[in-house]
Amino acid sequence: MQNQQYNTDIVKSFVHWSLLWGLVAVLVGVMASIQMTNPEFNLPPYLTFGRLRPVHTNAGLYGWGVGMIFATFFYMVQRLCKIRLWSDKLATFQLYLFNATIIAAAVTLLMGFTSSKEYHELEWPLDVMIVVLWVAFAINIIMTIMQRKEEQMYISLWYMLASIVGVAILYLVDSAAVPVTLFKSYSAYAGTNDANVHWWFGHNAVAMAFTAPPLAMFYYFLPKSTGVPIYSHRLSIIAFWSLIFMYLWTGAHHLLWTPVPDWIQTLAMAFSVMLIAPSWGSVINGYLSMKGQWHQMRENYLVKFLILGITFYGLQTLQGPMQAVRSFSAFIHYTDWVPAHIHMGTMGWVSMISFAGIYYLVPRLYGRQIYSVQLANLHFWLVLIGQLIWSFSLWIAGVMQAGMWTAMNPDGSLTYTFMETMVEMYPFWWARTIGGVIFLAGVLVFIINLFKSFRNGEAVVLSGATAEGRA
Ligand code: HEM
Ligand code: HEM
Repeated sequence: MQNQQYNTDIVKSFVHWSLLWGLVAVLVGVMASIQMTNPEFNLPPYLTFGRLRPVHTNAGLYGWGVGMIFATFFYMVQRLCKIRLWSDKLATFQLYLFNATIIAAAVTLLMGFTSSKEYHELEWPLDVMIVVLWVAFAINIIMTIMQRKEEQMYISLWYMLASIVGVAILYLVDSAAVPVTLFKSYSAYAGTNDANVHWWFGHNAVAMAFTAPPLAMFYYFLPKSTGVPIYSHRLSIIAFWSLIFMYLWTGAHHLLWTPVPDWIQTLAMAFSVMLIAPSWGSVINGYLSMKGQWHQMRENYLVKFLILGITFYGLQTLQGPMQAVRSFSAFIHYTDWVPAHIHMGTMGWVSMISFAGIYYLVPRLYGRQIYSVQLANLHFWLVLIGQLIWSFSLWIAGVMQAGMWTAMNPDGSLTYTFMETMVEMYPFWWARTIGGVIFLAGVLVFIINLFKSFRNGEAVVLSGATAEGRA
């Protein structure tokens, strides 16, 4: 009955496609990782590390991450507003455009067309497609919220709105460019201004696309999965407004020790450190929502994914501010420490919460219980262990690199050549590949379990708060 009232087909489609792009991202990630230990696997001109890396990051961040934003926002907005999506047609148009854009992105990046701005590599015709895509999405979500039948705006809706407005502003400002041919454009900004605008975009993309949306999901799926409301609505709102206020000043922490004016660097550093408070506001709210419910960590695999996800977010938002302090940045910047930080966020925080979201949706969208709770638990352990191996090996590698790069002989000359430091990295890069393969195995187990659930899962009888995460 609910499934007739709400548009669930669009949610299903976005889940399917983002899973596919997620799988591509992880496969290409493993290939890129192997290329670092075995350069002979670079196959010019298309399959070199330089081209595969942006394919990996774009498929991971935009195919998987943003795809899941579309899926879960469309699901949550309808339930939280107690109304069907404003326009089914617009949502379907968005689905086609989304997939067309991701395919065009993969093809153009493999062919070597790039604006060369990290996380914003796509050339201007694709920028135009993305703007249309996002405007369609924004109109649909905002109109649905405006026509809502539920007066209260739950915290997830606030995070969704922030993400929609935030991404739109960031993307438009950072996209300003002068096209010279169909696939080449030059930034409208020059020199340090360009760098500053770009990293204002870069870090706030982390905020508006990979912090606010997973938080919207976390605040929705955690109480739904435990059957207990969140600990404090007031704390969630205070953390929300302070997070939104503080994030926007932090972009220049990517540009410490560069020609960007000193005061901008100091401002970014100060706001980054202050960001611990609103980030941990949500982490603490999550932990306190588990009061009296911790036994569910043993019994309910959904809760395991959600709590591990928020724990990685908590660790990520302690490590991030540390990296934004000038003296620490001088040590770890340019080293493998940074990818380790990133993958704790992407494989740990964003992916864990998205996996939980999909598990939660399966019975509601397909009317089927998950096929095997054992497989869901196996999935959990594989992605957790894979991620930990990935990040720990590169944290150690990063500290070693930093130490070797700065080591000096008594006469002031460098102790190690750059090549010597590279050779020392091999065991860690191998460990990363192993961690990546374990993570990939977890994703495959997940996909098999989903297929089995669609076909052979027990028919589901849903009652009030969910119980289907339980073992
Ligand atoms: C309080 C929150 C956070 C702060 C203050 C922070 C801070 C930082 C800093 C200072 C860097 C630059 C490191 C360097 O190159 O020297 C960085 C890199 C990065 N962080 Fe975070 N971080 C935070 C949370 C997150 C989260 C939650 C995610 C992902 C979900 C994330 C993803 C990234 C990414 C993708 C980069 C790499 C940018 C690049 O390619 O250079 N961060 N972060
Ligand atoms: C099996 C899992 C994965 C493997 C093996 C993997 C591998 C890699 C490799 C080898 C790099 C290049 C690092 C470098 O330049 O030194 C990289 C970068 C990156 N990956 Fe992954 N990755 C995985 C999962 C993911 C996922 C799921 C996401 C996003 C949702 C993601 C997002 C990124 C980002 C944003 C970067 C840029 C890092 C930077 O700027 O330093 N990765 N990954």
